[in-house]
Amino acid sequence: MPPELLWLSHCKDGPLPRVAADVLIRLLATELRPWDVRWKEDFLDIQRSLREAGAALFGVDARDMSLTTCTTTGLEAVALGYPWRSGDEVLIPLGEFPSNRLPWLSLASRGVRCTEVPLWDGQPSSTPRADMAPEQRLLDAITPCTRVMAVSWVRYQDGVRLDLATLARGCRERGVHLVVDGIQGAGTMAASFEGVSAFATGGHKGLLGLQGQGLLWTDAAFRQQLTPIGTWLSAPDDFSQGGTQANHDALWATDGRRLEAGSPSIVSCAALAASIRLLLECGGVAAIQPHIVRLQRALLSQLSSDAAWAAEAARLDALVQANRAGSILSFALPAEACERLINAATTQHIHASTREGYLRIAFHGWHDMGDVQRCAGWLLAG
Ligand SMILES: Cc1ncc(COP(=O)(O)O)c(C=O)c1O
Repeated sequence: MPPELLWLSHCKDGPLPRVAADVLIRLLATELRPWDVRWKEDFLDIQRSLREAGAALFGVDARDMSLTTCTTTGLEAVALGYPWRSGDEVLIPLGEFPSNRLPWLSLASRGVRCTEVPLWDGQPSSTPRADMAPEQRLLDAITPCTRVMAVSWVRYQDGVRLDLATLARGCRERGVHLVVDGIQGAGTMAASFEGVSAFATGGHKGLLGLQGQGLLWTDAAFRQQLTPIGTWLSAPDDFSQGGTQANHDALWATDGRRLEAGSPSIVSCAALAASIRLLLECGGVAAIQPHIVRLQRALLSQLSSDAAWAAEAARLDALVQANRAGSILSFALPAEACERLINAATTQHIHASTREGYLRIAFHGWHDMGDVQRCAGWLLAG
């Protein structure tokens, strides 16, 4: 990244690391010579390496990983594959990104109701605070008809991080499947998938891959309940270019390939695998998350001594301390303040973003205290 540029927007788009770009360029050269492309090494093994890298980052079994194009297609594999009955219900929080809303709303034609649950009093006109109990609100909203609860782990606008362990436990106790849109936490925050049924993410934000490549993790037993999408690469054995396919009673693999579509973009798979391996070499989320929290608290501490920022800095610091924030610090500001700050940022080569009345500042593993200083200087002058 150019040294003068401060990118605080991986919540919009993660930058592709140089190592991933190098892998991509090498592979593109191969694509220009299809006669040199090897089926196993340059196709099957690259897909396998992405499933393995994703599994290592999330601390799960690679056999439970599926390649998807993005978060939405992962959620759709669940929404379209689940054995719904008319009258069933899905719960989602109020204010979800459309990826985790539209696939569930579309089930209305099959008689499935999607209910949106407010996570705190006065949402969305009031801001989230550390003493709220969003998980309890969601669990309290479960009815005898609820089959699935689908939540964003980290919310795209206000930055709230839900406690997946509490939700997963509560859902399991009530016989409900917890399905997670994980894109705003993947690559920056540590999660346990214990008790979760599915976790979908795109690869182009905190995971630092290209747009158009994502990952889906599913619990093995839950996956067998889903109708497979049904493509030729999801057969029990790897497709043989030799022409003879093994004869199986089962049509579909039982591992994560069961939920995959046909040929993936192999360059996108290789780039995302390289980006994830880099995150792992940097210590993975176990190192990245506390680093981000240090940077967030340093920024909020600087802002807290300024009268104009003190209240928001205190609200956000309480969220960070209560483990209720992800990597996005979302400052609730009047629209003209957001616009003024974004304009000032542009002249200083700083990139942040706004969503739904929040100014979003997202730190990642490569940021340092110098970046915090620069960010504070920009905000305090604005
Ligand atoms: C919470 C959340 N989910 C999903 C997405 C994107 O979905 P997809 O990976 O399908 O493009 C975004 C993008 O901003 C997001 O913030």
